[in-house]
Amino acid sequence: MNHLTLFLPCAGGVEPYLAQEAALILGRKDGIQLESAGVRIEASWREAMQLNLHSRLASRVLIQVQGCAYRSEQDIYQAACDVAWEIWFSQRQTFKIDITATRSPLKSLNFAALRVKDAICDRFRHLTGERPSVDVQRPDARIYVHLSADELSLYVDTSGEPLFKRGWRQDKGDAPLKETLAAAMLAASGWWNLEGEQRELQPLYDPCCGSGTIAIEAAQIALGIPAGGQRRFGFERLIPFQDHVWNAMKTIAFRADSMPANSQKGLKNLVIYGSDVAHRMADFAQRNAELAGVGAAIEFRGGDALQRKPPCPVPPQGAVILTNPPYGERIEVAGVAGVHSLSPRERAGVRASSGQLRPNRETAEFNAEEGDFFPQLATHWKTHFDGWTAHLLVPDMKLPGKMRLKESRRVPLWNGPIECRLFRFDIQGRRVPSEPKEAASAPAPQP
Ligand SMILES: C[S@@+](CC[C@H](N)C(=O)[O-])C[C@H]1O[C@@H](n2cnc3c(N)ncnc32)[C@H](O)[C@@H]1O
Repeated sequence: MNHLTLFLPCAGGVEPYLAQEAALILGRKDGIQLESAGVRIEASWREAMQLNLHSRLASRVLIQVQGCAYRSEQDIYQAACDVAWEIWFSQRQTFKIDITATRSPLKSLNFAALRVKDAICDRFRHLTGERPSVDVQRPDARIYVHLSADELSLYVDTSGEPLFKRGWRQDKGDAPLKETLAAAMLAASGWWNLEGEQRELQPLYDPCCGSGTIAIEAAQIALGIPAGGQRRFGFERLIPFQDHVWNAMKTIAFRADSMPANSQKGLKNLVIYGSDVAHRMADFAQRNAELAGVGAAIEFRGGDALQRKPPCPVPPQGAVILTNPPYGERIEVAGVAGVHSLSPRERAGVRASSGQLRPNRETAEFNAEEGDFFPQLATHWKTHFDGWTAHLLVPDMKLPGKMRLKESRRVPLWNGPIECRLFRFDIQGRRVPSEPKEAASAPAPQP
């Protein structure tokens, strides 16, 4: 159990941040290797539990139990027969198989998964006279099969439910960000410092906060609250699991001075803010924050992003706006630039122009609401948010041009299947020329 090969899958673009995060959690850089769509780590069982508890960026923690060449379903059966599944679960437990492939020559992935299932059952029957059953809803053990063109990998999952499910969310809103992607935005923006050195916390503001995911992740990071402290994990049902070791690990994780994945200074003052044009969403966000244990650390308000003023002055360390604004069909812009502010006739025109397009790059070209919202947002920021650094996650590669702002950075991130960019804009306020003194103070002409 001390020499395991782990694979931590993550969203595209997040790999370098996940490698940094894993190094912080484990307190070492060696044995951590960047791969496409994930990070490979040589680690112990104990470290696998630690990664589950603390990682904000990984989707899962998988243990690789087989890796070999294959050409046929029979090779897959044989490779799965050779794995000591009995180390991980027993014939009395249930299991489930998930399979993914890139460029596999096999005709049916379902059949390949069936061969792995047969191999597991045959091995247990041979060893014990019994076989475990399949349960696709609530399995005790989850097995992952990945096929490339010629390589087969088999994994035992230690996470259970995907890690973006932190265990606190009740109110979802219409299009909540996955917690793992919110954390990736915090890392990519630089607000979440994964380099390891201590530094002063920057105020953070999400002006389209929805259910509050970005602000809540930020507050948990700032307070050193472990990402998975409120949920259960798949490893709790596997054979190597020891209750007392896990309880001791959680106790340490919740100690105030223990912040393995966090290098911010503690949250002395309230510096995290969120607002949403829908007051209902601000209430949802507040309730979610309370469930996540950070209710007192964030201020949520209702209000239009085009009207709300900065929630605080800019301190010497700078201040950050971080948001995934309304975009595409699922979430409309509301408020002064929104479809709801249009006449019924104008609204019909907007709907006709946005049609049935999915939220993607093309949609952005046609959506009249968004067309108005983003230039107005840029003007509002230039007028009121001088000195702030704004980061927007959008699927529109042409957004800077539409906002007439030059981005200082663009980071590719994937929101599920949608390719996005996190654009950074350094806001420099427009200096409103002051009125000539004489004109302003000239006495009104007397009749
Ligand atoms: C993509 S969602 C944000 C989701 C959020 N990150 C979460 O995790 O739940 C966009 C949000 O922008 C809000 N919104 C739409 N128009 C707005 C405006 N003019 N000002 C502020 N918020 C707005 C919507 O109500 C919605 O909650």
